[in-house]
Amino acid sequence: MKILLTGGCGFIGSAVVRHIIRSTNHSVLNVDKMTYAASEEALEDVGSDSRYAFLKADIADGTAMNKAFESFQPDAVMHLAAESHVDRSIDGPGQFIQTNIVGTFTLLEAARKYWLSLGKEAQKRFRFHHISTDEVFGALDVNDPPFTETTPYDPRSPYSASKAGSDHLVSAWFHTYGFPAFITNTTNNYGIWHFPEKLIPLVTINAIEGKPLPVYGNGTNMRDWLFVLDHAEALVKAVEIGEPGETYAIGARQPRTNLEVVKTICSILDELAPSAKGKHDSLIEFVTDRPGHDFRYEIDPQRAEKALDWKAKHNFEAGIRKTVQWYLDHKDWWQKIREKNYKGQRLGTTK
Ligand code: NAD
Ligand code: DAU
Repeated sequence: MKILLTGGCGFIGSAVVRHIIRSTNHSVLNVDKMTYAASEEALEDVGSDSRYAFLKADIADGTAMNKAFESFQPDAVMHLAAESHVDRSIDGPGQFIQTNIVGTFTLLEAARKYWLSLGKEAQKRFRFHHISTDEVFGALDVNDPPFTETTPYDPRSPYSASKAGSDHLVSAWFHTYGFPAFITNTTNNYGIWHFPEKLIPLVTINAIEGKPLPVYGNGTNMRDWLFVLDHAEALVKAVEIGEPGETYAIGARQPRTNLEVVKTICSILDELAPSAKGKHDSLIEFVTDRPGHDFRYEIDPQRAEKALDWKAKHNFEAGIRKTVQWYLDHKDWWQKIREKNYKGQRLGTTK
């Protein structure tokens, strides 16, 4: 299969590209604008493979997208490109609207134009796989059942509203034009090559450097954590067998409070990289909460597990151990980001 994949230099996109090149026969055209969140290094191992090609372009550039479809002639699209950080969406929602909504619309139109040019059989086989988030379903309370494919949309941050907007466009293109698109909505990912603005890489790096570990509010907010390499496998299965018009809710059944997450990272570091200054959890600092902070996300993945014949292989403790070790082994990568790109300062306070 020839897959036009957007956002392949990002955290999840790069895991998908590596998985495709290492473990399948598919070929990939990676379309990425190379924003602050992109990393060329994440694809160093597979970048020279003859089944991999790269195009630096903005998904909101219709002319560039039309050209990409005409020249690559894909059998499927995996659309991951997005602005992805909630805190940045609070500081500057405009880019989230532009990429996540206008960009998705532009990509959908380029894909539909190309799809209409195909013969009947190729049209039937073609898939547009939109990668989305469980944040579009809003926030759960402690005793609410987890989200499923039928949970109503209730986005609350500029990020999740922009992703909800993109999901609605994808589903409208299916219903209105018969365009063979489907959506996966997934819980929080963590793992290797994760840009250090998100909780797990930020806290891991700060702890390694002996800096404060900022926990928003009282640390009782919960997320359901999926190891990124498990997610990459699920996404590739989905593009291979996903049905038009469907939604697949993907999760790991690994809910943890933020404080549990941070304390687990600290105790792994106490073991792998003990500090002369004492236990790493003494660095924890409770800081002003995120505005509109969603209390809890969790997915019931039963239906998707069955439909995709997939299950997450890593529980949180196994995945986080690999992740912390990886950050210890890849200081060059994140130190460069900390020097040039993002120093780890607090974002999204509305101040
Ligand atoms: P990321 O921020 O790490 O990477 C995004 C990538 O998209 C970067 O390489 C960036 O350069 C590229 N990009 C951004 N704007 C672009 C544009 N206009 N044109 C082309 N490329 C552009 O994001 P991620 O965490 O890897 O998330 C990937 C996708 O998965 C997103 O759609 C996100 O909403 C979704 N998602 C993420 C998570 C998570 O926990 N990270 C969970 C569920 C769903
Ligand atoms: O649920 C899927 C979503 O998960 C994805 O769609 C998003 O792209 C992804 O960024 C992630 O969103 P979150 O807001 O849940 O992730 P983040 O790592 O920013 O925060 C996780 C939790 O940790 C959240 O409750 C806020 C809290 N937090 C975050 C940071 C950065 C802290 O307590 N301290 C921090 O420094």
